[in-house]
Amino acid sequence: MKIGIDKIAFYSPGLYINLSDLAIERKIDPDKFLIGIGQIQMSVPSMMQDTITMAINASNKILTKEDKEKIDLVIFATESSVDQSKSGATFIHKLLELNNYSRSIEIKQACYGATAGIQLGYSHILNQPESKVLVIASDIARYGLDTAGEPTQGAGSVAILLTKNPSILEIENKSSYYTEDIFDFYRPNYSDLAIVDGKYSNDKYQEFFSKTYNAYMGKYQMSVNDFDAFCFHIPYTKIGLKSLRMIADETKSPNLFENYKLATIYNKRVGNIYTGSLYLSLISLLEQGNLKKNDRIGLYSYGSGAVGEFFSLRVVDGYKNCLQKASHEKMLDSRIQLTIDEYENIFKNNYTETLKNKIKNENTIVYFNGVVDHKRIYLK
Ligand code: CAA
Repeated sequence: MKIGIDKIAFYSPGLYINLSDLAIERKIDPDKFLIGIGQIQMSVPSMMQDTITMAINASNKILTKEDKEKIDLVIFATESSVDQSKSGATFIHKLLELNNYSRSIEIKQACYGATAGIQLGYSHILNQPESKVLVIASDIARYGLDTAGEPTQGAGSVAILLTKNPSILEIENKSSYYTEDIFDFYRPNYSDLAIVDGKYSNDKYQEFFSKTYNAYMGKYQMSVNDFDAFCFHIPYTKIGLKSLRMIADETKSPNLFENYKLATIYNKRVGNIYTGSLYLSLISLLEQGNLKKNDRIGLYSYGSGAVGEFFSLRVVDGYKNCLQKASHEKMLDSRIQLTIDEYENIFKNNYTETLKNKIKNENTIVYFNGVVDHKRIYLK
């Protein structure tokens, strides 16, 4: 039985900054962010947005009434959760008006969570072929103002509908994974900012890539030539490029580098969305690229702490008709640009009337309206 991605979409908040403006403000050469890090813009979440609102906005782009009735497993992957106990999937379940006879859970393993969700969803459909599984990755990446990680922040969500006989991508039953207990990037319960050892995290990301990629190639007797494109977890686009260079030569495989470029168009404008970054890159590749039926995509997922996985997907004939390209491009093009001063005020939760007026037209179908009696309130 073929199982895979039948629908996929992303949402990113309607506010952004240009990283060249941020560099100038921080007295850094803009080329460090634009070329050295490889990012152009960064989405900024206002107080109206959290992982739940972004998840609803992303899911709403793809789900029909029939999907909502058939979904019997909701897997919400995040590392910027809104509750220590209740899963984000239960909020989502209600706001999307899903069938109550379903399982709803939240998964956490840093940026790796959505990949675990996809593999769980695959097994679920294998056992119950008529069911549909909704996997949502949703995160806000926060390192703090004027930190080394600042240009690699971002916010967004990716919603993926898994089914049998999928319309976009088939999941190959091939994968390799690797775990180690390390402190490269983490966020203790008492902190709303990530703690990161930047250089160490980069080294571990690449080491895990090498380990999982080589294990996969050894296990299935395959080589780089069996792949048409690679997508990486992209905290910033330069790291994926460096990883691709570890396995491929630009002069011998120009198509892999061209496809990598296409796979980073959206990520360069949104920033890091942790659990969703790999899948945002996948959407970028599918929508901006020109893959053919049966083309094989290699995916590298990495979640600090740390777990890595390398797995693969095959392109389904006619996939282009099932994407949301125009809607995604319009969403990014219509975001409201913030000055660095406005971005800093939002970061510090310091909303003046002028700022509130500027951001009130942000494109969102649901917003977070505060906490009453310790309960989070969402309004449509
Ligand atoms: N023009 C062009 N390039 C320039 C430049 C200029 N004027 N100035 C500097 N550069 C280049 C540097 O040469 C360097 O390139 P290489 O990596 O190819 O050597 C690049 O810009 C970055 O420069 P630095 O290494 O000096 O940057 P930094 O120390 O300020 O921080 C960072 C970079 C460590 C990635 C930091 O942004 C960070 O800590 N980010 C968060 C952590 C992170 O994203 N880790 C990734 C792996 S962990 C993970 O993947 C999980 C997750 O999502 C967090």
